[in-house]
Amino acid sequence: MPETRTAGVTGLGMSVPSRVLTNHDLEQMVETNDAWIRERTGIRERRIAASGESTSSFAFEASLRALNAAGLEPAEVELIIVATATPDMLFPATACLVQHQLGAKRAAAFDLEAGCSSFIYAMAVGAQFISTGCLRNVLVVGADTLSKITDWRDRSTCVLFGDGAGAVVLQPVEPPRGVLSVVLRADGSGADLLKMPAGGSRLPTSEETARSGLHHLVMNGREIFKFAVRAMGEAAAEALRSGGLKQEEVDCFIPHQANVRIIDALAKRLCLPPEKVLINVDRYGNTSSASIPIALYEAVSTGRIKSGSLALLVAFGAGLTWGALALRY
Ligand code: ACO
Repeated sequence: MPETRTAGVTGLGMSVPSRVLTNHDLEQMVETNDAWIRERTGIRERRIAASGESTSSFAFEASLRALNAAGLEPAEVELIIVATATPDMLFPATACLVQHQLGAKRAAAFDLEAGCSSFIYAMAVGAQFISTGCLRNVLVVGADTLSKITDWRDRSTCVLFGDGAGAVVLQPVEPPRGVLSVVLRADGSGADLLKMPAGGSRLPTSEETARSGLHHLVMNGREIFKFAVRAMGEAAAEALRSGGLKQEEVDCFIPHQANVRIIDALAKRLCLPPEKVLINVDRYGNTSSASIPIALYEAVSTGRIKSGSLALLVAFGAGLTWGALALRY
């Protein structure tokens, strides 16, 4: 049996579409205004994929950058996990498309879907392969193009989302670095609060589902809001507890970027000062599975996270799912 090791992040990358959609652009599309969107969500603009672009486009670019940053050749990658709720197709897995584009010929590849918590779930899975000694080079990608399933006539959802991807390379690292603790949770009783009703085996695509607009994301925003603050607060506290960490030790808090009011309420609940809280929802909107790896990438590239910094990642999403992960970078 191989010895137990610690998994750490050794390379990061991100990719977002070049097209920017501002709140003022949205004013031309639905009955909304910049002030409402900024006050209620904190979002100013988001990136939206072009018609030829899909989740794998951004997943591939982010992956390539993460591999370059880690100094790893595609042929050395042993496993690719793409965390996504908007795969290119129902099957095959988007991870296989990324594997092929990268030329990662020795890698296993699969997708993981846990709503907007997918990236935390995927990090937990990837880290397990390393800590058990099975694998040494794992690529974890968070990628989504929610714009493709957004109802662009529904002002209550279309202002919220953006597209993009973030990727990390996980490899064995020396303590005290690495993934220190993980908390994963789910509660399927809330499945109806956030879903895309049609296109699966329950309600296969038909002329009727297309006519009724059932291939769009539908959401109960108020209920999700309340759940998000409570669930992320509990998961973050538990991740600290199980890692033997104190809230004062956190150098950078990276919550899922859905709404600045959710983030503010959460930071207050956890007694974390604003300077430790990473917020980029103003520039990207809610990029679902990509939000945490994009924020992590920006925190590292701007020096907010340095070698040895303690980052606390926390997410919530459709499922319902939620989770947290403490990482010593
Ligand atoms: N522009 C102007 N007015 C709007 C808009 C808009 N874009 N959207 C809704 N309104 C109106 C509503 O119609 C309502 O009007 P009414 O009072 O006349 O009925 C009013 O604004 C208030 O609506 P609420 O839904 O109560 O607004 P709220 O303050 O709850 O904000 C929001 C809505 C932003 C969706 C909030 O509930 C939220 O962020 N919830 C969490 C959503 C979330 O995080 N989802 C993602 C989770 S998982 C994932 O990331 C995929």
